[in-house]
This record gives sequence, C-alpha cells and structure tokens, in this order.
Amino acid sequence: MLRPRHSLLTALFVLLPVGAAPAQNLDSLLARMTLEEKLGQLNLLSAGGKASPEQTALVRRGLVGGLFNVIGTENTRAVDRVATTESRLKIPLLFGLDVIHGFRTIFPIPLAEAGAFDPELAEATARAAGREAAAAGINWTYAPMVDIARDPRWGRIAEGSGEDTYLGSLLAAARVRGFQESILATAKHFAAYGAAEGGRDYNSADISPRTLREVYLPPFKAAVDAGVATLMSAFNDIGGVPASGNAWLTDTLLRREWRFNGMVVSDWTSVAELIPHGIAGSREEAGRRALTAGVDMDMQSSIYVETLAPLVQGGRIPMAVVDEAVRRVLRAKARVAALKPVLPNPVEIRALARRAARESIVLLKNDRSLLPLDRATPVIAVIGPLADNQLDPLGPWHTDGKPEDVVTVLQGIKTRVPSGTQVLYAQGAGIEDPSTAGFAEAVAAAQRAKVAILVLGERHDMSGEAASRAYLGLPGVQQQLLEAVAATGTPIVLVLMNGRPLILEWAAEHVPAIVEDWYLGVESGNATAEVLFGEVNPSGRLAVTFPRALGQIPLYYNHRNTGRPPAADKFTSKYIDAPVTPRYPFGYGLSYTTFTYRDLRIASRTTVGSRDLQAGPVRLGPTDTLSVVVTVTNTGTREGTEVAQLYVRDEVASVARPVRELRGFRRVTLKPGEARRIELLLAARDLAFYGLDMKAVVEAGTFRVFVGPNSIEGLEATFEVAYP
Ligand code: BGC
Repeated sequence: MLRPRHSLLTALFVLLPVGAAPAQNLDSLLARMTLEEKLGQLNLLSAGGKASPEQTALVRRGLVGGLFNVIGTENTRAVDRVATTESRLKIPLLFGLDVIHGFRTIFPIPLAEAGAFDPELAEATARAAGREAAAAGINWTYAPMVDIARDPRWGRIAEGSGEDTYLGSLLAAARVRGFQESILATAKHFAAYGAAEGGRDYNSADISPRTLREVYLPPFKAAVDAGVATLMSAFNDIGGVPASGNAWLTDTLLRREWRFNGMVVSDWTSVAELIPHGIAGSREEAGRRALTAGVDMDMQSSIYVETLAPLVQGGRIPMAVVDEAVRRVLRAKARVAALKPVLPNPVEIRALARRAARESIVLLKNDRSLLPLDRATPVIAVIGPLADNQLDPLGPWHTDGKPEDVVTVLQGIKTRVPSGTQVLYAQGAGIEDPSTAGFAEAVAAAQRAKVAILVLGERHDMSGEAASRAYLGLPGVQQQLLEAVAATGTPIVLVLMNGRPLILEWAAEHVPAIVEDWYLGVESGNATAEVLFGEVNPSGRLAVTFPRALGQIPLYYNHRNTGRPPAADKFTSKYIDAPVTPRYPFGYGLSYTTFTYRDLRIASRTTVGSRDLQAGPVRLGPTDTLSVVVTVTNTGTREGTEVAQLYVRDEVASVARPVRELRGFRRVTLKPGEARRIELLLAARDLAFYGLDMKAVVEAGTFRVFVGPNSIEGLEATFEVAYP
C-alpha cells in the first residue's frame, strides 16, 4: 500500500474512506500547490517497465501525477518513494496499466467472455485480475472497455462485450465491481469509439444523438452507476467534435447529467491529436480545449504540464478549472489509498481461468453429432498453425501473460487420450505465411486419422488496437489448408481462434463441426479438449453477429425494420447478390444436447395472482414489471446449459424501434429429460427509448416479448403498456 509520510496527506490518502477526501483537506492542499505542481498532477506518462531517470526527475519536481506501464512492486515502490518522500508535496503516484482480461493469469478475451452471458463470471475474472495487478504494484486499470461494436473489421471489438447494449451494460458494471475490489477501473473509450467508420481504428464516428444515447452510452452509464473511478476519453470525433475535447460529453452529460464525480483521463496522446483532428492550431490550444472540456489527466501528450501555465496566468483558462481537475485526480488517489487489495490465490485463479474458458467456447456447427469425439479414437490428426501455439491463445492485450503458462489444444488433447490413441500433429501452414510446403504432411496425417482437428484463425495481434482488417477470411493460406485436408474425406472439426467474427462461408457449408474458441487464455487447450471430448458441454453464445459477406457489414440483430423489410418482392431492403441474414446470429450457440421452450406465460407482477394468466391482453403500468415464465426442457441425452434469452419489440412508437432488443437472460443447467419453469422479469422502464424530444420515455402501446435460444428464434407473447 502507498503510505505517504506527510501528515495532511496522511489524512487525505490513508485515513479517509473511499473517495471521501473532505473538501477542506483538498482545498488546503490545493492552496499549498504551485500552478506547476497542479498541472503536474494532471500529467500521466508511460514508462517502459520502470520509470526512466528523466521521469523520476520529473516526479521529484512534482510534475507527474501518474505513471503507467511500470510493472513490479520493486519498480512501482522505487518511483513512488521518490514521489512520497522527495517531492515537495509528497503526493503518491497513480500506477496505471491495461489489465484487460487478466494480469498474469490470462482469461478469455472480453468478447469471448461476454458469450458466457454470465456477469458473475465477468466480475470474478476482473476481481482476480485486479488482485494480481495490485500485487505487482498497479493501482489503476484501463478497463473495462465498454465500447459497443457492430463492425468486425474493427480490431478492438475483441476487447469489449460485443454488439449488445443490455449485455454490455451488465458486464460493464460487473467488471467495474470486480476490478475495484483491489484497483481503480476505467470505463473506456468515452464515447462511440466502437462506431468508427468502416471499422478503421481511430476513425470518425458519425451517429445520431439517439443511437449515441441508446446504443453507445448506456454501458458507460452502467459503469458510472457501479462507481467506476475513472473514464477515458476516446480518440475519435463524433460528428466533428473529438471526444477528447468535447465539453458536451465530458462535462454536460457525464458530470452534470450523470453526476459522475470521478476523473477523466485522455487516451494516449489524444489531447495532442486535437491538432490533426483540426480543432486546435497549437499544443496549448489543444490542451485548453481538452482541459476545459473536462479531460482531467493528459496521457502522454505532456501538453498540460508543458504549455498551460501561461494560459492560466493570462486568464484564458480559469484557475477553478485547473483546481477542479486536480481535485478529481487527488480524490482518485484517496480512493487508491482506501483500497484494501486482496492477495491473489494462484490456484483459485487458474481454476477460474478454466471455468471462464469452458463457458466462453461456442459450438457453431455439429452435423450428425460429430462432436463430442470418442477419446479412444485410434488415430486423431491435430493440424494448423494455432494447434500447438502458446502465444496466440493469450489474445491481444495480454499484459503480463506468459506463453509458457498456456496449454495448447494439442497438449490438451494429448493429456486426455488413452495410451492406445495416436495423436498426429502437423502445423500445415503459418498464420499469414504464404508457404504451402507443410500441406503434404498435414494431408498425410489426416489420411491416416479417423478425425482431423484443424486449429485455425488469426494471430493474437491481428485484433486489438491498430488491427482493423478489410478482409475477414482466414489469413494466409489457411483456407487452402482447410480445403486440402477436407479433400481427404476424413471428418473435420474446425477450431477457431480469432478476435472478431470471421467470414467463413466455405467452412460453414463444408465442415461438419465448428468450435469458436476466440482467444481463451492460459486454459485454452484444456477447455477446448474438454469440449471436444464431451467432458464439458459447450454453453457459450455469440455476443456478436457473424456475417456471411463483407458487404453486409455492419450487421447486427437489433436493427430497425425499415419501411420495406426484406421480402420476396424485389423492391425491398436487401442485396441482389447476398442474403440479408447473418451466418450465425447474436445469441447463437449449440450444445451437445437439445432444449425446447414451451408454455410461455406472461403476467404483470403488480397484479399478483392469476388474473393475467387468463385470456386478454396483459397490461403493464409504466412502473410495473412483467413476469415472463417459460418451461425449458432438456430433450437430449446429456446434461447441458441453455442461455434463455428475452427480447422485446415495441410495435408502434413515435420513433421506429429495433426489431428485437435483449432485455434479459438466464443460464439454466438441466439434466437429460429435465424440465424447468423459469421466470425472467422485464421492468416497464426497460422499454424506454429516446422520443422525438430526445427525452427517455416509455410509450403506451403494444409490445412483443420473445423468449428463446437466440436473437432470431423463440416463443412470443404480446402485452400492453398503459398509463392509468
Ligand atoms: C489505447 C487505450 C489504452 C492506452 C494506454 C491507447 O492507445 O487506445 O485503450 O488504455 O493506449 O495503453
């Protein structure tokens, strides 16, 4: 823990409850600070593992508020000691890091974990990551990334919870709670970074105020409501106003409307980037614009500390603006001091990584029940550049994760087969390498085997930051490898590792079994082999739509209906050369068993009893809750987990509403033959949208509610919202 020596600061940073540094203490500290020292608190610099001598000298002069990418307690303590004993005011530093899906123990990427539809799991993995990071001296993560992403070309889709706002909001709050047991969290990238045009990173977003409010902002609001300590302002502009210099976003909306009293940090040099954006002609103007908009900490631009003092002295930036930003930074430090990080338990965390990997795997296809495989299959071929690869399953942003901690799919398979089973391995090809020299060996292995498992996909750094793709097929010669192996006639199981939906039409048509692993982290090979051999029955669902063709993008389930919904008639909203439907819809995923839904009943919670269970429309008042009850039955022969999903549709409203919107879900584990009545609750307030006047409203009228296995199937019922 950080232990400042100075008595006033001791009171500020150690004794006070979370975030509760009293105003008078902050004010007396502010009164003692020079303008230079104030701007110093707003300065955030990246280190290369440990603070450089130059950075340490700046810390000593009180010109740095926080460092990031300093890893290891010996390194964080060394420079923090300089801050707390050698600088004039002895204010401790913030130590930031991108702890995105694990610190040392790497969990599935957030997009994969979102598919578990399990906020409790997301909270647990964030908690574990926070504990490991805190033990290495970190007190602030730049996570969770809560950007809604509807475009698989965008590499950063891997870091978030996919395309759905409701799921994304629940997971945002869960991850904030989890991290903030031991370290501060950051909801990023505020806002609409996921709407970058063309899926091209750092690009402009130009979306309507309604889409911004309804789709992109709610996960941030959920993070704020969950008590997130900080937000990060995004790189992109929204309709011409860059998010790191956007007073409406970081002041009017965030601070006044949402009452957020935490700190906003810029993204990496996003303050300086106001110049190329074209809204500032100089560094000081960029700094003025960002600071007055409400961006408190300047990450990596050094603009605040280097250029803003004369503007403050000259009255172009009110001192009150600087003081308020400094207060927010100091309050964040007070929160850090009040944290009581819990020591990580490596055995428990590893077990959690296994659970997370198991829950994240999505079974996309399984013709004639090729899976699960019999372990005693005499010869199994394991092929592909990702089959025995320890680096790539770590995915993008794997922080302190180590390839040697990763169990590969080949290793997972080998440790699970009996001694009589022969496992033949051939890499076959590289991930992007154009060489086909390894094909012959792969084909020969497949010819000798009863089944061939191909592990194909993307390199870990083909998603994440600055990793947008314009083609979404398998990179390199992997598609040819797949076809060459398939030509042997040996049944194929395709295991995919990728950070985004891929377009895999050939595989979807020709390969009998497809398993979506995403990047599962350290337990990749164990969890995959458990699924392949049926020790684990897959239960993951897609948190993002898989398109059939590049030209369909953006393709997402909760689109509007249009005036001419796709139909047989030519003059309807569709393509002449591709279907409008996705290859795999949002919420989709198979199991080794089957589930059916029956007896959907709805009732208003306020009309307790049976009245609404009888005929006639179910009426809901604007503050009521709808009870949605359905029987889910496991109609197969194995125990399995279904993710029952509840969607709504507002039939007629003053503004066109999406054809479906997720508003609830439940994981249900059922034994073979078991039936269970489950209840999902839908609050009328969850039917709100932004009306013509851009105010949130629940309009009276008829709604449809759907309950089923994914975003396109299910049972449905109708109810009405009526005002008394
Ligand atoms: C990324 C952020 C990240 C920051 C610090 C930026 O380039 O956009 O998500 O938190 O770097 O590493």
